[in-house]
Amino acid sequence: MTLKNQKHLFDIQDDVTYLNIASQSPTFKATYNAGLEGLKQKSQPYTIKTSDYFEPVIELKKLFSNLVNAEHYNRIALIPSVSYGMATVANNIVLNEGDEVLVIDEQFPSNMYSWQKLAKTYNATIKVIEAPDTVKQWNEDILNAIHEKTALVAMGNIHWSNGSLFNLKAISVKAKSHNSLLVIDGSQTVGALPFSIKDIQPDALICAGYKWLFGPYGCAYGYFGPYFDNGNPIEENWTNRLDSEDFSGLTNYQPEYKPMANRYSVGESGNFIYVKMQIEALKQLIQWTPKGVQDYCKQISLEAVKELKALGCKIEEDNYRTHHLFGIKLPENIDLHALKKDLFNKNIFVSFRGNYIRISCHLYNTAEDFKPLINCLASHL
Ligand SMILES: Cc1ncc(COP(=O)(O)O)c(C=O)c1O
Repeated sequence: MTLKNQKHLFDIQDDVTYLNIASQSPTFKATYNAGLEGLKQKSQPYTIKTSDYFEPVIELKKLFSNLVNAEHYNRIALIPSVSYGMATVANNIVLNEGDEVLVIDEQFPSNMYSWQKLAKTYNATIKVIEAPDTVKQWNEDILNAIHEKTALVAMGNIHWSNGSLFNLKAISVKAKSHNSLLVIDGSQTVGALPFSIKDIQPDALICAGYKWLFGPYGCAYGYFGPYFDNGNPIEENWTNRLDSEDFSGLTNYQPEYKPMANRYSVGESGNFIYVKMQIEALKQLIQWTPKGVQDYCKQISLEAVKELKALGCKIEEDNYRTHHLFGIKLPENIDLHALKKDLFNKNIFVSFRGNYIRISCHLYNTAEDFKPLINCLASHL
């Protein structure tokens, strides 16, 4: 089934061209209303039931585990950010001197600082796989760099700034053959590109929730595989312990955690406002399916990609990049400062990195949305 434009579900003004969801997603009207319901509940706290602290959280975890094809919802933790998720992972890794942590060139900082700290603690090395000329070569370089000293591979399934696609299946097989842990930052793909835990088998998958998952800023998701089952969380929240639903027995301090990844959820993860919003958002995405979203984005951007190439912009080959997010390298002679100003004045939102523009689109966009961007670019050449 081909999806149709869904702008009516959003609150985006008609005179705005928003091609920047990779920075921050807009909210569905339904998500906005769910947030208001949460606010109402907070205004009338006597309407909050004990079950409200737990049952919506379980529903949300089930939805996320469905979206990423995980084996059990108890493998999902609700966390506030990618940095929190990566700190949790790092808190459970012991390295040997000389071990390597493999990362990708110019990886997002929340998927870097924890490894730098970890490597420093154990006298290990960060091995950065630099970007060669093609994504095909990049994938080969990553595979060739995994060997017996690789203790951890920490990367995204695409490059967050230009959508370069990494072959996670092959990387996972190679990592497992050397007993290396595989930790994926799915922030720029999960929700908009199919991702299956059962297929890729990462040890952890950490995703920001406020981009392609349409949650509020301050929500994220973590999948933690069996390696982490008896690990150490970075804080000790009461709701993560067994029988915490029994409010009358909370000071019968409980040494046992709830199963699997439950120990890694952030304190107050039952946030009535956020969880309601997140549930609405994931329900909608599951209905659309990540493949449906990806196919829609491909269809609306096909013509624009051709036109941008004709203007002298460089864009990676179709099969080596995503279509919901991709980078365009601008012609050398362009005045970046003037272009940025012009785009801003025309309400055209994209993101800039050096000589690159990152375009990211979704179901509120149409093929027409690329025209103002292309016209604006053309007028600067
Ligand atoms: C790949 C990637 N990971 C993570 C994040 C966000 O990290 P955090 O939730 O720690 O702020 C971003 C934000 O742009 C991102 O692009």
